[in-house]
Amino acid sequence: MSDFVELVWPNKELTLRASGLTGYEWLQPTDELLKNSPKLTPLTSTNLDRRSNILVIGDGLDAIEGLAMNTDALEGGVRLVYIDPPFNTQVNFRQYNDTMQRPMWLSMLRDRLAAVKPHLTEDASIWVHLDDSEVHRARMIMDEVFGEKAFVTSIVWQKKTTRDSRAAFSSNHDTILVYAPSGPRAWKTSRNLLVKDETNLLNRDHDPRGPWTDAPFTAPGFRKAQQYDIVTPGGTVLRPPRGRSWYATEPTFESLLADDRIWFPKNGNGSPRLKLFAHQLRGLVPFTVWGSADVGTNDDAKRHLLELFPEVEVFDTPKPEELLERIIHIATKPGELVVDLFAGSGTTAATAHKMHRRWIAVERITQTVLDFTLPRLQAVVDGTDRGGITSQTSWTGGGAFEVVHVTPRFGTLTSPHRPAAVAKKIGRIVDAGDSASVA
Ligand SMILES: C[S@@+](CC[C@H](N)C(=O)[O-])C[C@H]1O[C@@H](n2cnc3c(N)ncnc32)[C@H](O)[C@@H]1O
Repeated sequence: MSDFVELVWPNKELTLRASGLTGYEWLQPTDELLKNSPKLTPLTSTNLDRRSNILVIGDGLDAIEGLAMNTDALEGGVRLVYIDPPFNTQVNFRQYNDTMQRPMWLSMLRDRLAAVKPHLTEDASIWVHLDDSEVHRARMIMDEVFGEKAFVTSIVWQKKTTRDSRAAFSSNHDTILVYAPSGPRAWKTSRNLLVKDETNLLNRDHDPRGPWTDAPFTAPGFRKAQQYDIVTPGGTVLRPPRGRSWYATEPTFESLLADDRIWFPKNGNGSPRLKLFAHQLRGLVPFTVWGSADVGTNDDAKRHLLELFPEVEVFDTPKPEELLERIIHIATKPGELVVDLFAGSGTTAATAHKMHRRWIAVERITQTVLDFTLPRLQAVVDGTDRGGITSQTSWTGGGAFEVVHVTPRFGTLTSPHRPAAVAKKIGRIVDAGDSASVA
């Protein structure tokens, strides 16, 4: 008997395309209309290439297809996809509606993940940020798109610290599903460990090499070559504890001692310990529960946005830069490409920029781009954004990004999408009123 199971929903066999300003429409995957290329209208430079950071105004699926068909922006491969789509909470937020019918939401997620999949690097990972509304169904979709074996983990993020006393349970977490098409074992060899907290390093002997921590100079098990006498500075002769050995052989111990790498506590009478300097500390394997004290809360993210844009009603669902910093740190190296298909206020792009990663961010609602995404990224480039991870990355500004508008692959927009308003805000390098496309 096969153990194959599948989540089914009405219209699953169709593809869900963006239509109009915020709607969607079902199409047969074979529909002739899908042979059209989404039209990219550059609002800054027309030279989008594999070095550009790109803010796309439009739908994520149209954006990926438009960039892939008309530019080589995706050619180096995408190392990290982080998406924070509408969770389908059935709530209308100030900036966007989160009230899709479930079949549409499921197809919307599946089709956008499937579109980005061919552009992933071998060691890529995909992080999908959700809450209890759809996370269990999303996991089945990700199993279907990337394969069950690509599942790495689910991370629980403590998104708030205040209690809602009206609810049965006061939900204070989101879930982030992590997949790596190469599988968790292979991916583990290329992901980064967390940096160890160095604040507890001390310099108890004024070592000119700097502060250090220490670890026992013993190893488990009985190894003959690692059983020898060690004489402490106080004159005590020591042997390894029963069932254990010294950490290294005698010649290695002698050279470590000569290099002042052995520390004898208790005024020189205690058991030897190995001194470990900051550069010698192995990083930490990340836990799956991420607390607000380490990576911030939704409210921290809102405070950051309020500092940047005190005049604008705050974005309802931003994520803190500290959260994205951890994700980007684990999943990428400097210079690699980070993609976010649901950019919102632009946290992923802003954080990636400060961390010297390349980025592509897509946001469908022009007003959100005008109010938040675009001015925020401009502030990052100008060095005027002092919040988020600015001080921890010593960010002082620099770099650049391009802005393009993508029109849906079929149909027409029902009202002007206001590329001209965006172009005006960015100083209008390319005439946004014309129909020039990157194609
Ligand atoms: C939860 S918010 C993202 C918040 C973001 N992570 C931040 O820190 O600000 C989701 C965003 O996705 C946008 N969106 C919804 N559907 C989209 C689509 N099909 N393509 C691109 N953006 C979309 C919404 O307008 C909204 O701004």
